[in-house]
Amino acid sequence: MQRLTLTRPDDWHLHLRDGAAMWDVVPHTVRQFGRAIVMPNLKPPIATVADALVYRSRILEARPAGTAFEPLMTLYLTDSTPPDEIRRVAEEPNVAALKLYPAGATTHSEAGVRRLEGIYPVLEAMERHGVPLLVHGEVTDPDVDIFDREKVFIDRHLAGIAARFPELRIVLEHVTTRDGVQFVRDSGPRIGATLTAHHLLYNRNALLAGGVRPHFYCLPVLKRESHRFALLEAATSGNPKFFLGTDSAPHPRTQKESACGCAGCYTAHAAIELYAEAFEAAGALDKLEAFASFHGADFYRLPRNRERIVLERSEWKVPERLPFGDAELIPVKAGETLHWRLVEPT
Ligand code: DOR
Ligand code: ZN
Repeated sequence: MQRLTLTRPDDWHLHLRDGAAMWDVVPHTVRQFGRAIVMPNLKPPIATVADALVYRSRILEARPAGTAFEPLMTLYLTDSTPPDEIRRVAEEPNVAALKLYPAGATTHSEAGVRRLEGIYPVLEAMERHGVPLLVHGEVTDPDVDIFDREKVFIDRHLAGIAARFPELRIVLEHVTTRDGVQFVRDSGPRIGATLTAHHLLYNRNALLAGGVRPHFYCLPVLKRESHRFALLEAATSGNPKFFLGTDSAPHPRTQKESACGCAGCYTAHAAIELYAEAFEAAGALDKLEAFASFHGADFYRLPRNRERIVLERSEWKVPERLPFGDAELIPVKAGETLHWRLVEPT
């Protein structure tokens, strides 16, 4: 039996939601990951350190007994985030970063930033206190084609922010294009990017060829094959600027299978196994551990995990559906066979 032993990985971009539904998804992440950056796009958004700590305590309640998973919280940047809040973030080890959603870019981003110039004092405080900025890098301008929104955001906004705040640490979240990869690669070590399993495994044909497949609809939307290839190259390159962030984003099945379905792919049920599939297909399984377990921790200046996990090369079938509070959830690869399986730490 082929086995792969890895330092326990972390998920540097995760949506857990809240309430009863959260209790159904937290165990999936806890099984695999030591820590996760938890996104703040609840309704209402998590916008203060005080709210983040209360949310964190609800996540800890949903954590299966006997596990040591650590949620790392983020605050949702708004047009009215006070620069003073950044000092509280810097003093609170359980709050790791702030997330910038351009208003209207994605799920629950209505409260996001409308005028980037307006948050410069906050970015200046983040730069000064060493607090990372996590960016949903897409413009929302209706005149910009949805497949170009990442590149245009980088050209119009991100490059300028990076130049204006030369010490600010920035993560271009869920990078999906060759252009995004290039931008990160060409920037100094303070700029990194997360890569999702679904953007490494699928191109836009999965979403649109032979029928509309709403469970592959996410934002940023899946791109063409040449972009997927560039992402895979970045993930398997060994470059420490690229690290694992699932963007696992659960939604009730009925809200995905709808005339106006919402954005989000659910991958937390088998995240590390999905990344293993992508890395194996690229002939780069030897690069998985650094991508999944080292680069993110190093970027966030946190210690690497010490525990290990073991993956075994054996086939298993992903469930057709999973419980999600009083609804159900369709996971990526529902009903399909995966070739790597996480076995308990030995
Ligand atoms: O597909 C996505 N779903 N992209 C995001 O940026 C947000 C996420 C969500 O919260 O559902
Ligand atoms: Zn996300």
